[in-house]
Amino acid sequence: MVRRATITGLGKYVPPKVLTNFDLEKMVDTTDEWITRRVGIKERHIVEGEMTSSEMGIEAARKALDMSGLSAEKLDLIIVATVTPDMLFPATACILQEKLGAVGAATFDLEAGCSGFVYGLAVAAQFIETGMYANALVVGSETLSKITDWEDRDTCVLFGDGAGAAVLQATEQGGMLAFELGSDGSGAKSLYLPGGGSLNPSNQKTIAEKQHFIKMEGNQVFKFAVKTMGQASLDVLAKAGLLPEDVDLLIPHQANTRIIEAAAKRLNLPGEKVFVNLAKYGNTSSASVPIALLEAHQRELIKNGDIIVLVAFGAGLTWASTVMEWNEGVKT
Ligand code: ACO
Repeated sequence: MVRRATITGLGKYVPPKVLTNFDLEKMVDTTDEWITRRVGIKERHIVEGEMTSSEMGIEAARKALDMSGLSAEKLDLIIVATVTPDMLFPATACILQEKLGAVGAATFDLEAGCSGFVYGLAVAAQFIETGMYANALVVGSETLSKITDWEDRDTCVLFGDGAGAAVLQATEQGGMLAFELGSDGSGAKSLYLPGGGSLNPSNQKTIAEKQHFIKMEGNQVFKFAVKTMGQASLDVLAKAGLLPEDVDLLIPHQANTRIIEAAAKRLNLPGEKVFVNLAKYGNTSSASVPIALLEAHQRELIKNGDIIVLVAFGAGLTWASTVMEWNEGVKT
């Protein structure tokens, strides 16, 4: 029998405040028509006040634990994927562990941009497959609104806030069958936040130069994404000995409908096999894949035995994919 990791619980949280394209029309030189046509977003959720990534993450984590029926004390490992940690240190995963009461869990953050959640699944699965751990929690949580330049129309129309979480446990039937992870650091400057690290420690100059906001070369990221999302999906299927026609549902990172359509075309998948909820949330970075997975599950688009592909790209530049045979409720 092969021991694999499987998802036994999912949760999400999005803040109540909604920012529509029409709201953005009043803030920058843009239109609902441009955003809808070029990106596919209609609205996004934005945190208010002092809400943090750990606070959103905990809401999603509690729901994921409820669904799996696992108590927080039983968690062996918590990984938080985020580019918007509460602080540079300690890890947001430590803050989340304390609030959750997961006293027995090892914790760390994982930074792989929007690919972070799928990277996190891959890392947690290795611990479960080797038998070192039995129960893991992977969270993707982002308050991108706090690192967005709300005067920059090139970026501010794209992002939203939210959190998604998954509980992973061991199974001998199905589960996560293969992973494909990659990165190309030559694209680091295509999508980055220059200020606040050891390169440009925060000071009045970095603030005046808006170095604490996302900088992006949209075209470069777009080309990279179109190339890697399809390829990473094909590669992970090949690793698992599967073909594109075996896929029941593709859950891609939600950044741009044109990027998603290109990935679907590469796999020759019809629209009904590709999950898209970008219009409601915008790009929530590492939260986008778990939120989409949960919504697909809630809409009963996923049943036991289905072959599901998750695929993402992000800052780094990075990419990550996994293919799983869904087997909810089938634990060791
Ligand atoms: N409203 C109106 N016009 C705009 C806007 C806007 N919000 N933003 C840009 N434009 C204009 C540009 O100025 C340009 O005008 P010009 O032709 O007069 O110069 C025109 O629209 C076309 O701009 P492009 O950048 O060529 O537009 P493109 O079709 O490439 O779309 C976009 C831009 C949506 C950013 C696209 O490149 C994209 O989706 N890239 C990927 C971005 C992404 O996914 N980033 C997140 C990565 S994940 C992570 O780790 C966070």
